[in-house]
Amino acid sequence: MSEYVEENYELSEMNKAEEPAKSKIVLVTGGAGFIGSNFVRYILDTYTEYKVINFDKLTYAGNLNNLTSVEDNANYVFMKGDIANKKDVKNVFEEFNPDFVVHFAAESHVDRSIINPDIFLQTNIIGTQNLLNFAREHKIEKFVLVSTDEVYGSVENGRSSVEEDRMDPNNPYAASKAAAEFLIRVAHQTYGQRVNVVRSCNNYGKYQFPEKLIPIIINNAIKGNKIPIYGDGKNTRSWINVFDHCTAIDKVLHLGRAGEIYNVAADDECCNIDLAEKILKMMNKPLDLIEYVFDRPGHDFRYSVEASKLRNEFGWKPSVSFEDGLSETIEWYENHQDWIESILSGDYVNYYLENYENGK
Ligand code: NAD
Ligand code: DAU
Repeated sequence: MSEYVEENYELSEMNKAEEPAKSKIVLVTGGAGFIGSNFVRYILDTYTEYKVINFDKLTYAGNLNNLTSVEDNANYVFMKGDIANKKDVKNVFEEFNPDFVVHFAAESHVDRSIINPDIFLQTNIIGTQNLLNFAREHKIEKFVLVSTDEVYGSVENGRSSVEEDRMDPNNPYAASKAAAEFLIRVAHQTYGQRVNVVRSCNNYGKYQFPEKLIPIIINNAIKGNKIPIYGDGKNTRSWINVFDHCTAIDKVLHLGRAGEIYNVAADDECCNIDLAEKILKMMNKPLDLIEYVFDRPGHDFRYSVEASKLRNEFGWKPSVSFEDGLSETIEWYENHQDWIESILSGDYVNYYLENYENGK
């Protein structure tokens, strides 16, 4: 931590994940999305003295049905707003004066960023700067940007990215996240703000929007529809259960040294075709549902991050095995077809047609 930060904020050892300070107010942006909604539930369950403000624009990916189990919780508040709109951001900071910001809100899907990059720049870059400006004005204790392993770009086999590696993004989504990371760095270096970045690998679990690979495989298999696999299916991703990502963010929020970046991964690496076959076998569905389709332009071949910094500094480790996590996720989608049906209409159908049937 820089001396500047210490002097300006005079914060000490008060924020420990093991001994949470009482009555913190946590502003969660994008709390109605996949990871954000899992995180909101996790924080309310884990820190019963904390108040959570969920600030979300409710784009196609934001869904308040993801949060029905907490909507009556006295420590939970939802406020609709756009992080790219200064007035909305000012209002939420003035009304709630948060102690912490955990920033998930983003346009998150690579294929959509290839079709229309502009909104990714607005939300992921401008939105992040707006939040940082008001976080500085309100002298908040900690700001965590939820970033991604995509900022490293593709990594050759046998190697994993470490936090010191250069950012080398290859698609509009990844570039917008890298830009947001630079703004976080500036907030620390220039203004002494207490910030952290977490760079996670691919998440999976309940409430994931069905444009992403694992829910596409599961839901298309349930319906007996073809499962689109890009290119030759050999592209590789590293997977983590969303619950384990939440515990990692918790550690970084409370214990992360200001200005530091932490990789997050569970070491469950798999190429896309193997993953699709694995899930189909678990579901007792035929492998010929798999259909090779036109490749994603600029498709990064492999992501892999080394998470030993997080493990060594905080004793963090993932708790959900890939087998158990996948089987729970399959069961969740099988039992929540009403949730899926409420999404698979309108905008989603148009996007699916544009992405898969019109070619790229
Ligand atoms: P998601 O698309 O499911 O949810 C995004 C949420 O942000 C939605 O609720 C949406 O309504 C909200 N949002 C979008 N634009 C907004 C705006 N302008 N103002 C306020 N709210 C807005 O995304 P996710 O998969 O849950 O990802 C959450 C974060 O984690 C993102 O920042 C993403 O870059 C990062 N991340 C995701 C993964 C993954 O595998 N899904 C992995 C690493 C990092
Ligand atoms: O690595 C972290 C990133 O993981 C996050 O930052 C992003 O927000 C998140 O969307 C995810 O990005 P990916 O592009 O890796 O995830 P997606 O589920 O879209 O694709 C996973 C892999 O599967 C990738 O190699 C592309 C491939 N794929 C994807 C889709 C949607 C297919 O083969 N067919 C598909 O239909």
